[in-house]
Amino acid sequence: MLILGIETSCDETAAAVVRDGYEVLSSVIHTQIALHAPYGGVVPEIASRSHIEMIPRVIRKAVDDSGVSFGDIDAVAATYGPGLASSLLVGLSAAKGLAVALGKPLIGINHVHAHIQSAFLAPGAPRLAESLPLVALVVSGGHSAIVHIGDDGVPRILGQTLDDAAGEAFDKASKLLGLGYPGGPAIQKAADAAPPGLRPISFPKGRISPGNPALADLDPELCFSFSGLKTALRNHLERHPASTQPEIAHVAASYQKAIVDALASRVATAVRRHPCRAMAVGGGVSLNAALRARLQEVAAEAGIPVYLPPPKFCGDNAAMIASLAGTGFGVTGDAAMLLDADPSLSF
Ligand code: KG4
Ligand code: ZN
Repeated sequence: MLILGIETSCDETAAAVVRDGYEVLSSVIHTQIALHAPYGGVVPEIASRSHIEMIPRVIRKAVDDSGVSFGDIDAVAATYGPGLASSLLVGLSAAKGLAVALGKPLIGINHVHAHIQSAFLAPGAPRLAESLPLVALVVSGGHSAIVHIGDDGVPRILGQTLDDAAGEAFDKASKLLGLGYPGGPAIQKAADAAPPGLRPISFPKGRISPGNPALADLDPELCFSFSGLKTALRNHLERHPASTQPEIAHVAASYQKAIVDALASRVATAVRRHPCRAMAVGGGVSLNAALRARLQEVAAEAGIPVYLPPPKFCGDNAAMIASLAGTGFGVTGDAAMLLDADPSLSF
């Protein structure tokens, strides 16, 4: 089964060809970071225009690089949510057109579910189906969620952010510190330069009170809030401006620690409360070295393995889309052709 995957949910235009769910024959990712950097974040209008410009070239390159031809493709898979509506529409429409032209089925994929699948594209990783039940953490510029996947392979959200995503928290802090966009790598680099042994500045843990109306049926102890963290940083910088490199490094390291602590402690709780044989992580923030190290510790304490995507599949990519479709997930049949972009798609 050869699947051509297409991903345009945010600011990466991506296409990939994957055989039988796990063999990645090609993966092309065109990032728009340079276009959005001057604004300190993704500008939806700029993103969708760039997707329209790039999508034909990215798809053609993915097919060329894979060594197969368009005629060999068995199905076309595309992300239909969650994400930016105007970005999602470009990839979904391209996929619909291609499926019709090739006379092949279309498969609609949930982007957050696909990020979990990406952890199983690491060399030597088992198949996701062999690691169930599992607890997964998806952390990116747009999402922060703890997901449980039961023996049936169906994902269920256990907890999520009630405001900003973890990546967004990195990006906003980086802007406040004048470190540029994207913020995650910039904060990590600054934090790496902090002298060891310095007492971290205390930032809020973002705990959620059980009565919070935004919780619905989610577990408050598995949910996050990152907007208070950003405000606390702004207040801190007003009182103690960080201008020298050691001062910036100290603030960056403390802020990174606060985010890593918040994520890792919730994952540890989720693993204790829900049946699981493994942990999986996905999304751009899973590139963060401090987070990777802490999650390895959480997994070791729980006596289970943790699967992390290889760096090229941490951020948005289409290999994870084609991979998930190739393992039998997604919207298929006539329903796929009727799919609209769904910016707030959940499970
Ligand atoms: O998954 P992704 O590429 O796109 C979205 O779906 O959002 O994630 C991008 C996010 C950005 O917020 C970026 O700052 C963050 O991932 N990020 C990191 C690191 N590298 C990227 N956050 C923390 N540490 C990193 N090393
Ligand atoms: Zn993503």
